[in-house]
Amino acid sequence: MSFPETRMRDRRKDHAARMRNRETPEITAGELVMPIFVKEGISRKKEIRSMPGIFQTPLGEIVREAKRVYRSGVPAVILFGIPKHKDEEGSASGAEDGIVQKAIRAIKKEAPELTVIADVCMCEYTSHGHCGILKKVRGGYDVDNDRTIKALAKIAVSYARAGADMAAPSAMMDGQVKTIKEALRANGFPRTGIMAYSVKYASSLYGPFRDAAESPPKFGDRKTYQMDYHNSKEAIAEARLDIGEGADMVMVKPAMGYEDIIYGIKKELEFPLACYSVSGEYSMIKTAALAGYIDERGVVLELLNGFKRAGADLIITYYALEAAKWLKSRK
Ligand code: PBG
Ligand code: ZN
Repeated sequence: MSFPETRMRDRRKDHAARMRNRETPEITAGELVMPIFVKEGISRKKEIRSMPGIFQTPLGEIVREAKRVYRSGVPAVILFGIPKHKDEEGSASGAEDGIVQKAIRAIKKEAPELTVIADVCMCEYTSHGHCGILKKVRGGYDVDNDRTIKALAKIAVSYARAGADMAAPSAMMDGQVKTIKEALRANGFPRTGIMAYSVKYASSLYGPFRDAAESPPKFGDRKTYQMDYHNSKEAIAEARLDIGEGADMVMVKPAMGYEDIIYGIKKELEFPLACYSVSGEYSMIKTAALAGYIDERGVVLELLNGFKRAGADLIITYYALEAAKWLKSRK
């Protein structure tokens, strides 16, 4: 038995009205950021084993990638570099002719409309895979916060000089935003923005990224400088600190499972807020989709809209390109 015609019509009208009166408007491509891994010394794109559909990109193809992103309606990329040379001190990270610096220059020359955010960290550059320079302490090693923030500032300035729109410090060192901000100003780049990874939990969801960026810590872990997921109050405190130090935008990472944090920060601080839907989130959804167990497009759009509903102004996601395509055909 089907509904009488008139009831069907009413139901359709109700549905249309509900869509118009949504509390949170549908997510758009313009709110997404696509991560790109640029690798030195390769000549072809190389798929990341644990992230089907995501690649390490050679410098020679970076402009093509950037243009593809921009054409899709996604206005920004965040760059991660994988250098040939790694050493104890991550010395390749701030080089003017480093892989990320070159990639920024190429993109800004050929696709200047695209917003370029560059991740500022040392874990891809250090032989031990930690996010900063280490010092010996009793019983082992610890990150040398002071030396590391100076190195981070040098990296950020080199990115600004190459033309980056924003630097995104992710090393979780104390005072990193302030030191970077001062260095940018002192070197003539007062308008280069800072997207602070203010709230970065020690998460198992970063696993595939360490494959992608070839940066797993060789010993120990990052728990000493990343946050404990049993806590949420310190998230607001950390974000507030970074805003005080000069951040233009703060970020919560991961996104899935951390919507309460996104919501809390937005509500409490009312400041531009990004969230990073990390590699593990992508890999879980992608593998389930490839196995035919879930409706990929439905799941991804539902989650992205959820991050937005929670309070995110921008979402960094490995699904940015695909989501942009789906959103175009959705209407
Ligand atoms: C490193 C960095 C990581 C991510 C972004 N920057 C890895 C980590 O902290 O271990 C994770 C991103 C992802 O998993 O997609 N500074
Ligand atoms: Zn790092």
